[in-house]
Amino acid sequence: MCGIIGYVGKEKAVPLLIEGLKRLEYRGYDSAGIAVLEDQGLIYEKCAGKISALEALLDDKKFDSTIGIAHTRWATHGEPTDLNAHPHLDCKGNIAVIHNGIIENYRSLRELLDRKGHKFTSDTDTEILAHLIEEYYDGDLMEATQAALSQVEGTYGIAVICKDNPRQIVAARHGSPLVIGTGKGENFVASDVAAILRHTNRVVYLEDREVALVDPESFVVSTVDKTEVTPQIQEISWTLDQIEKGGFPHFMLKEIFEQPATLRNAIRGRLNYEEGTSRLNGLNLQYEELHLIDRIILSACGTAWHAALVGEYMIEDAALIPVEVEYASEFRYRSPIINEGTIVFVISQSGETTDTQAALREAKRKGATVLGICNVVGSTIARETDGGVYIHAGPEIGVASTKAFTSQMMVLSLISLLLARMRTMSLERGREIIDAIYKIPEQVEQILKNDSYIKDIAEKYYQKNNFLYLGRGFNFPVALEGALKLKEISYIHAEGYPAAEMKHGPIALIDENMPAVVIALKDKVHDKVLSNIAEIKARKGKVIAVATEGDEEIADKVDHVIYIPQTVELLTPILSVIPLQLLAYHMAVKRGCNVDQPRNLAKSVTVE
Ligand code: F6R
Repeated sequence: MCGIIGYVGKEKAVPLLIEGLKRLEYRGYDSAGIAVLEDQGLIYEKCAGKISALEALLDDKKFDSTIGIAHTRWATHGEPTDLNAHPHLDCKGNIAVIHNGIIENYRSLRELLDRKGHKFTSDTDTEILAHLIEEYYDGDLMEATQAALSQVEGTYGIAVICKDNPRQIVAARHGSPLVIGTGKGENFVASDVAAILRHTNRVVYLEDREVALVDPESFVVSTVDKTEVTPQIQEISWTLDQIEKGGFPHFMLKEIFEQPATLRNAIRGRLNYEEGTSRLNGLNLQYEELHLIDRIILSACGTAWHAALVGEYMIEDAALIPVEVEYASEFRYRSPIINEGTIVFVISQSGETTDTQAALREAKRKGATVLGICNVVGSTIARETDGGVYIHAGPEIGVASTKAFTSQMMVLSLISLLLARMRTMSLERGREIIDAIYKIPEQVEQILKNDSYIKDIAEKYYQKNNFLYLGRGFNFPVALEGALKLKEISYIHAEGYPAAEMKHGPIALIDENMPAVVIALKDKVHDKVLSNIAEIKARKGKVIAVATEGDEEIADKVDHVIYIPQTVELLTPILSVIPLQLLAYHMAVKRGCNVDQPRNLAKSVTVE
């Protein structure tokens, strides 16, 4: 959600912090701020709006400071106004705090601090941290921060500076990610490695309730309760190219076009043609344990939840194991039944989504083995699960998830294959699926070649205000995903439905102004989907169909056809979603929307 960067070293801090903030803007972009320590004391600027608004504020000012912290916000407590932007300061203006997360007991703390005479200037929960640190401050910023955090309930990733300690940043984490980046004569703190990757790939991930004291030469880590910790430095494999647009107008388009490569990464080294199965050592489960699985729960949010739905179709169809798909936000408050043979998978691109983390913890509390399907290596979910499979899609910066979705589905197909081959699936069928898997990246390349054709369709429809997305079987979740992509980036209202459900209600909406996007592949429900198309056409609805290459007949029945290559039914969602991603992208661009930073959204939802 919000983004944090801090720097202490030998370079001028302001340009470096602004550059870091721009790389974090996808994390939140409704207000931004910066605090630095100059000779004359603590200086800060903050404002509502994007980083460019903050830059404009800083433009005519001269800064020499080599230490500072900066923040980009996605509002939770308090509207996105200048006053609510971070940093927040104590009464004397000596201590500045930036914060990701939510302080749950902020009301009672604020009352307490009010009684002690502290003066507040914002509506945020974060501001109490600055005053609480001030309350405990006696010359030692680390100790005061530890004392303050021991009073706090909720989640935080914070960075703090104080006028009296011009070479120190204090950083802490609980439930909201924070890394320390180590350089030569300079160190960084950040909520996301993307912010500091240009300077260093050597990082330490803070664990929950850890606090770090960072200066240019070194850093020490201990817990809120002052137990010393030996930090482990890790090297990040992401490259700078991966977090830049590389000539594309938007990250979203770049990420859509990266999918042939990201799908190859998801498969690499994981298929065993000889035995017609997959190899997923990260699951950390022995053959016997995998064999004993008799029920699977897949839990996730948003797009990852759609991948879970596809996973349900895949696993039940291939491995004949019953699967339940749960919204993580619901799972955490239900009383889920976990039996001995139940395995829970949580799926999360960021590995930081609060609801998914909570579902993971609830499942563990109930005794389940919990496995992860994550993208971000070292993320909270990746670290807390008992094992899992990384999707290796590289950094996903566009707020609308695209490449992570296809890679999540690919990994789920590998899991299905593994479990199926231990059960009833024949060697021949296993090999047939592997052959099809190997072809997928090239087939995605082929679909991407239709980009300008899809753009032409988008240009005909971008002014419509409502869309219906229909699919069946494996492609019903793709209809949901197509609708989600459209609504989140273009603000067009869109609904996804299983095609046959249309006649139970949504058909009432169909007229010449309500186009339908129908996934109508040559599969076992093809004829039934054609009947649904006929029902739409009979009511003057326009139909954009995603169809299987070679299906010439469908062209006469619909207004536009986007063809995708033939593959085994289980893998069709990985192909059928690509045109829907492009369609949503082009419609949003035509409507003048900021596709990488849609309104009210932010990458990685770390609040409940
Ligand atoms: C949609 C989107 C969100 C995320 C959801 C889960 O394009 O990006 O719906 O899929 O917030 O995020 P992760 O996968 O990071 O847990």
